[in-house]
Amino acid sequence: MKGIILAAGAGTRLSPATLPISKILLPVYDRPMIYYPLCTLMTAGIRDILVITNESDLENFRRTLGDGSQFGIHIEYDVQHVQRGIADALIIGERFIGGDSVCLVLGDNIFYGPGLEQLLRKAASFDGGALVFGYRVPDPERFGVVAFDGDMNVTSLEEKPEEPESDYAVVGLYFYDGRASEMAERLTPSARGELEITDLNRLYLQEGDLHVEIFPEGTKWIDAGTFDSLLMSSTFVCEEERRIGGKILCPEIIAYMSDFISREELEAWLGRNKVNDYFRAIRDVIRLFLVFPLVGLDSSYLTIVNFEVPSAASR
Ligand code: DAU
Repeated sequence: MKGIILAAGAGTRLSPATLPISKILLPVYDRPMIYYPLCTLMTAGIRDILVITNESDLENFRRTLGDGSQFGIHIEYDVQHVQRGIADALIIGERFIGGDSVCLVLGDNIFYGPGLEQLLRKAASFDGGALVFGYRVPDPERFGVVAFDGDMNVTSLEEKPEEPESDYAVVGLYFYDGRASEMAERLTPSARGELEITDLNRLYLQEGDLHVEIFPEGTKWIDAGTFDSLLMSSTFVCEEERRIGGKILCPEIIAYMSDFISREELEAWLGRNKVNDYFRAIRDVIRLFLVFPLVGLDSSYLTIVNFEVPSAASR
């Protein structure tokens, strides 16, 4: 399965914060926002990734993530010249996808929680239509909204409805089979001039091929696309890391735990970065692994609490 991170967009909702740089490169706590959707794809086991950016930020994204080899993955870049909608990502990415199945994640969506790795890994082996996820929210009118009957059959799918038929938002994480690009080509722009991802999902629904799952209890989803949710996402990551006494959603750790990179490769990457609190914490987690090989732990949900990390000298 291929992965696409959609990270273009005008950024007008967060202006003036986004005047100098793309929203997706703004920091969420101690790392650029794009690290989080990258972690989502990596946790799903996806290593072949296309990042779609706007023209002016392309070089900033390249500088941030490079070719992905530091995380044992392959990253390519493409440009969305005009904000034509989220489904346009599947048209821009057509050559990259190459008829494979694909996971599209929005650059400002953050996912975290126990059980997420299992859910994502399962979703990554999905290849029979479209798979989307519902998440109960207090303000569904801000999102794509999915409603179902008692048997969980989808009864409606609407983009930002004034009167939502359910409290379930469709999160910005979509799994499609090899038809996604061809189906996206069939869409016509909405009243706001965009190829709506909700229209693509509705097309799959009409063909009887849309699957919806509800995120497990305890999963956190943040759309960091407003001033408040951006602040909230930083606060969440900071507080969660303090609570568990470890790091969450770090590509370095996921890469190492998923065997995308060896210890030597990770050390080489850490060595190329000046030691600060972020890289020191990564080092601590990895050192912990050398002492306690905690096989089977969810790599995006790592805790080092309750463990005294032995110093190199005492080992
Ligand atoms: O976050 C989940 C929601 O994302 C879904 O529930 C909605 O169905 C979906 O339409 C989307 O709604 P948003 O209002 O959050 O979409 P927004 O226009 O903010 O775009 C989401 C991200 O995608 C944003 O980081 C910018 C990027 N984007 C968006 C468009 C329309 C692009 O890169 N290019 C685009 O053309």
